Amino acid sequence: MRFDVITLFPELFIPFLETGVTRRAYESGQVDVRFWNPRDYADGNYRRVDDRPFGGGPGMVMMAEPLAACLKAIRLDRQQDREVSPLIFFSPIGERLSHPLVERHSNSAGAILLCGRYEGVDQRFIDTYVDGQISLGDFVLSGGEIAAMALLDAVARLQPGVLNDEGSHQLDSFNPALDGLLDCPHFTRPELWEGLPVPEVLLSGHHARIERWRRDQSLALTANLRPELLNAARSENKITADDEVVLKREN
Ligand SMILES: C[S@@+](CC[C@H](N)C(=O)[O-])C[C@H]1O[C@@H](n2cnc3c(N)ncnc32)[C@H](O)[C@@H]1O
Repeated sequence: MRFDVITLFPELFIPFLETGVTRRAYESGQVDVRFWNPRDYADGNYRRVDDRPFGGGPGMVMMAEPLAACLKAIRLDRQQDREVSPLIFFSPIGERLSHPLVERHSNSAGAILLCGRYEGVDQRFIDTYVDGQISLGDFVLSGGEIAAMALLDAVARLQPGVLNDEGSHQLDSFNPALDGLLDCPHFTRPELWEGLPVPEVLLSGHHARIERWRRDQSLALTANLRPELLNAARSENKITADDEVVLKREN
């Protein structure tokens, strides 16, 4: 799988790619990430990539032409058309990044990711070339790079062999293959920290009781914080009669 990132600040990605459990995926090329700077495709001595907005107003806008030339170079290099490697633009107006969206990308051949800066990108470029838009949430970032990293990170950790423990992402929140519920709380050493003990059941060594406790915690958390996830799990028959008893008791 290959991601081509169009960014004015490729250096922002270097520590991200070299750190943490997902590093292996990037280093081995399992998730192949390449960078393209639109400045390298801009004309003139100043290699200008932005200009003032027509109609006036504050800020600058990323120009269509350097982006189009950059995209052309990527398509030539990838030898794939937009059906195989769509151009995704990170934008506050895009589809909210979610587990289903991450899964879709993690089962794909990759994509071309466009990180905007300044006031954004000339709309004519977006209308002509962009295939999808993704938002990190209802707030405004200074650029799309953090959103691109969020997508890359979430996709990389779903790739086989990337996490130390293969099963660990299976148990994470939002996993539809399991039940789509929120994960349970986690505890580690020491057993007593600032007068706060670890739940006794987790020290019991009793596997079935521990599993039941984790399930109950996950159900209660989801019912309290994200009831719509619980209803979705119900509609897929992933909530058992025992689970319903627990939920009734918690209510
Ligand atoms: C300062 S923002 C532009 C914001 C734009 N004028 C607006 O109000 O919608 C610059 C760039 O950051 C990125 N960006 C900002 N907020 C984002 C978000 N919530 N999700 C994804 N990308 C975002 C986009 O690529 C955007 O073009």
